[in-house]
Amino acid sequence: NKVVLAYSGGLDTSVIVPWLRENYGCEVVCFTADVGQGVQELEGLEQKAKASGACQLVVKDLKEEFVRDFVFPCLRAGAIYERKYLLGTSMARPVIAKAMVDVAKEVGADAVSHGCTGKGNDQVRFELTFFALNPQLTVVAPWREWEITGREDAIEYAIKHNVHVPVTKKSIYSRDRNLWHLSHEGDVLEDPASEPKEDMYMMTVDPKEAPDEPEYVKIGIVEGLPVSINGNKLSPASLVSELNKIGGKHGIGRVDMVENRLVGMKSRGVYETPGGTILFTAVSELESLTLDRETIQIKDFLALKYAELVYAGRWFDPLRESMDAFMKEITKTSTGSVTLKLYKGSVSVTGRESPNSLYRQDISSFESGEIYNQADAAGFIRLYGLPMRVRAMLEKGL
Ligand code: ARG
Ligand code: SIN
Repeated sequence: NKVVLAYSGGLDTSVIVPWLRENYGCEVVCFTADVGQGVQELEGLEQKAKASGACQLVVKDLKEEFVRDFVFPCLRAGAIYERKYLLGTSMARPVIAKAMVDVAKEVGADAVSHGCTGKGNDQVRFELTFFALNPQLTVVAPWREWEITGREDAIEYAIKHNVHVPVTKKSIYSRDRNLWHLSHEGDVLEDPASEPKEDMYMMTVDPKEAPDEPEYVKIGIVEGLPVSINGNKLSPASLVSELNKIGGKHGIGRVDMVENRLVGMKSRGVYETPGGTILFTAVSELESLTLDRETIQIKDFLALKYAELVYAGRWFDPLRESMDAFMKEITKTSTGSVTLKLYKGSVSVTGRESPNSLYRQDISSFESGEIYNQADAAGFIRLYGLPMRVRAMLEKGL
């Protein structure tokens, strides 16, 4: 009788409102999450939703929750999908879907709906979250059911149903923006051999237009999580937002990649993650002081699986949650700061400090040596290399 729809105000989700009413005879409650996609997307949304036939629009500000509970755990884990993708869209879907489950309860809805196509990852992320948090909700995915195939079709449907067609001009790209990143897919990007035009980018300047002087930023980190920029403590969302400005100005964090979607196809996308790129560098640099060799190896190994689970929409899977407990425990000593130099699209580290540093100059220095006795190395090498000597003796008949 009542459905909660993930609503953006764009043409697609505006058409879904009358479609749900016509095909399911239900009242439609539109839900929009503010995950930092920008104010222009949120303006005038209530009138728009009602003009499309919704009985109500619910807006929730999820920015802090998004960064604190979804983005930062992935950052602490070092989760990167297929060597490059910092998971911006993947992390936003579960926080939005979780809020939809709450809204459904608040307004007494028994169904939820989203505007994802049947060809992508996003449908999986929404629906696995619904399953995990309220298995009784009915899920309606219009794109997998209806006959509407393109933009012209959608406009025609809207006009026929006397529904306001949003005037927002549709970009040629399929984009998804939040506080962490902006993704671009479609149009010229569909040819993996073609370079995107410079005017596509929105969060970052062309590195060649970036300032000619490098800028230094010092990131403060406590137990694997960033807390300050140049000594100023900031909330998770404001910290990311501030770093987006700084990173964007220097053309940091552009990624162009071909990735494997969960549904099997390859897809070419371009991402802008300026603040995130700075933060990933900072966190991993600090770990070079605070974690030992084997710990880093195991952590990186698990991070791969962690990223895959997040990409695949399995945020609320006990496997990810248990791995997160590991990440939290293992980074308890990752406190300190990292200084980075930003210059024309690149982030390079210039310094790191930690009260828990495992680095000791009195051991590592070329100068002296109290704890480390060079003579010890001879016996170590003989035993460490014993298997190699035995094999060589065998091969040479000794
Ligand atoms: N390919 C990325 C991912 O799967 C970005 C998806 C963007 N979604 C969108 N509705 N435009 O996470
Ligand atoms: C979509 O198909 O709805 C967007 C792309 C994706 O989900 O991967």
